[in-house]
Amino acid sequence: MKKVIMMLMLTSISFQGFSAGNIENGKVISYTCTGCHGIPFYKNAAPVYHVPRLGGQNEAYIASALKAYKNGERSHETMQVQAKSLSDQDIADISAYFASLK
Ligand code: HEC
Repeated sequence: MKKVIMMLMLTSISFQGFSAGNIENGKVISYTCTGCHGIPFYKNAAPVYHVPRLGGQNEAYIASALKAYKNGERSHETMQVQAKSLSDQDIADISAYFASLK
């Protein structure tokens, strides 16, 4: 329970102090991501393995997931490799882009 409260607090803090991500840049640099996360096709794709949908997800959630992969808190080899190549600004831009998709 404590953990959940902490997470909610962190989420609201990062909401207030969120340096606005650049949606246009996020679109450009998330090009490789859509190969797996398949935004343009997510409605009709039947993925061979589960790849979470990113479009329309909460911006702070996407950013914190990417940071967790980057620092090794979340373990998934593919995503760790992806996240390690991203700067904090890249993460902000990408998160803003995916969150903007409806
Ligand atoms: C090779 C395929 C592949 C590529 C390329 C890829 N991903 Fe992923 N991604 C996955 C898979 C599989 C998971 C689920 C991993 C897990 O269960 O932790 C995932 C999980 C995620 C999650 C967590 C979603 C959630 O609901 O918890 C985020 C955020 C994410 N990816 C963002 C990205 C971004 C941004 C890029 C581009 C920089 C990217 N991914 C590129 C396969 C990929």
